Amino acid sequence: LKDAFKADFLVGAALNESQFTGSNAVEAALVKAQFDSISPENALKWENVHPEPDHYNFGPADRYVKFGEANHMVIIGHALVWHEQTPAWVFQDQNGRPVDRATLLNCMSNHIFTVVGRYKGRIKGWDVVNEALAADGSLRQSPWFKIIGPDYLVKAYQLAHAADPAAELYYNDYAIEDGPKRQGLIRLIRQLQAAGIHLTAVGIQEHANLNWPTPQAVDEAITMFHRLGVKVNITELDINVLPDAGAGNGADVGLNVASDPALNPYTNGLPASVQQALARRYAELFAVYVKHHADMERVTFWGVTDAGSWLNDWPVRGRTNYPLLFDRASQPKPAFISVLETAGQAKAARHQAAGASASLTGTAQ
Ligand code: G3I
Repeated sequence: LKDAFKADFLVGAALNESQFTGSNAVEAALVKAQFDSISPENALKWENVHPEPDHYNFGPADRYVKFGEANHMVIIGHALVWHEQTPAWVFQDQNGRPVDRATLLNCMSNHIFTVVGRYKGRIKGWDVVNEALAADGSLRQSPWFKIIGPDYLVKAYQLAHAADPAAELYYNDYAIEDGPKRQGLIRLIRQLQAAGIHLTAVGIQEHANLNWPTPQAVDEAITMFHRLGVKVNITELDINVLPDAGAGNGADVGLNVASDPALNPYTNGLPASVQQALARRYAELFAVYVKHHADMERVTFWGVTDAGSWLNDWPVRGRTNYPLLFDRASQPKPAFISVLETAGQAKAARHQAAGASASLTGTAQ
């Protein structure tokens, strides 16, 4: 993957501990062979790296960064300010009452300086604020918003920049490919820029399914965001092939497969027709990414093989899902081949264009 798209963008994967510590040797080898960028699936989230007020747990995160350095990969940080996987003590005092604005800003500042500062010059860029938008495009009513106010985003970016002035600053979110959330992000980018924040890139997570988002929507979204002067990355790509359980992205409905076996139809393998649909779907999305290669730095998958995908447990726990390019035995799927074909077609088209312009120049001479 990384070689096929060398002329286009980096190809990344989100890693869990078993991959970056090498305890899963097969998957660690697969990561080294295929990817040139990594993201931490959970290791750098607040609840893991900073579980108690005066206690940081840098063990796994240090291993993650060392793995990336040893393998010459572009290392991404995820995520500094988010409403999920953040311990309750961040937002509440010992009596369970919300802390005040000054206290939360101070806590955010300590966290960002300690975490970003530790990996200064080693982590290339950070998802500074993650998922701050609500479905209607307004700012989500998160504890960050409610306690600090709408300027919590500007503060977070200023702090991250102060902690590592060379680090790239990202805004990362899901379902921003279309609709009111896309418009909300356009407003948010403009507001951050007006406040003097140099946002490097927007991360489109791209938790897709077989029908959503349309390639046209992705194409438009990349164009619209890039027009504002930011790069656009695909940061959490996967394609859910299982039936919709009625939950929107971001909501854990707490269902269990036992409640309805029809929600888990492919426990004995993916039927060939769905396998092919998945391969075509990956190809159509990559055709859009390749078209925009000049506006993008990376395309990152949220996971390595189907075995470890979060989509086996969300929004229904215990399902057998098939969202990635490598199967449960770490073998490439038809979708892997179709993605590589997209790279080949892009290369051929570029050669043709270069040839055409050379022959035009030749005629002119
Ligand atoms: O580590 C504990 C383990 O000790 C415990 O026994 C087990 C029981 O449930 O839970 C384990 O923690 C889980 C953790 O993943 C590690 O596997 C958490 O319950 C589970 O909630 C957590 O889920 C993560 C999720 O973010 C949390 O919101 C997923 O792995 C991770 O893929 C997912 O990633 C997010 C991105 O950060 C942001 N965008 C959306 C994306 C998908 O939700």
